[in-house]
Amino acid sequence: MKKITIAIDGYSSTGKSTVAKQLADYLGYVYVDSGAMYRAVTLYAMQRGIISKEHFDAQKLIASLPSIDLRFEKKSAWNKAHIYLNGKDVENEIRNLEVSEFVSPIATIHEVRVKLVAQQQKMGLEKGVVMDGRDIGTVVFPKAELKIFMNASANERAQRRYKELLDRGEVVEFKNVLKNIEDRDHIDTTREDSPLVKAADAIEIDNSEMNLDDQFHTVLQLAKDRIAGR
Ligand code: DC
Repeated sequence: MKKITIAIDGYSSTGKSTVAKQLADYLGYVYVDSGAMYRAVTLYAMQRGIISKEHFDAQKLIASLPSIDLRFEKKSAWNKAHIYLNGKDVENEIRNLEVSEFVSPIATIHEVRVKLVAQQQKMGLEKGVVMDGRDIGTVVFPKAELKIFMNASANERAQRRYKELLDRGEVVEFKNVLKNIEDRDHIDTTREDSPLVKAADAIEIDNSEMNLDDQFHTVLQLAKDRIAGR
């Protein structure tokens, strides 16, 4: 069967990754969470004191890029691939609120984007990939056969993220989660390099009122149409 490339972009916490992973599993495609790569670079910068609440040394980060090795590895066929930063599994660590607070400024750095985009494009060379992020349909795979742009209200997204963090045992306040989402929306959409924008040929899905099953079936139907050349 013909393999295609599927790009799923959208705002933070729109549930892109859940749908992307489900779709990839169903189609037997590779799923790539590009946000995890920006998060892992952020974790590296935090660990080396390159970024903190007080300062951010972008030049030092740029100089360190050759020593940042990122790769994905699957522990089992059905589990999500974990991201490894210089050989260490950091899948869990990169999801905390502190990383979320620093990731947007890190993602504005042109040299960071160049490195990660090149690696992402390599992962998609053979097609049969579902990748989610912010610039997948616009920059990474501008020729993707299917582009989806996911959206939901900031309040709805913050509710989902808040629940996720509580389930992970983090102590957080809803207002801080909402503020983080709004701040990231602002930085992600206004940055100079590859801002979050819906590709002209992307299909927008607002999932504020949709459950996971509805979302999955909507994107699956679109994927089946594209695979069939419709
Ligand atoms: O999808 P996420 O929330 O895990 O992404 C974390 C951050 O990484 C997000 O705020 C913006 C950035 N990002 C990006 O700039 N480009 C991508 N393709 C994916 C993520």
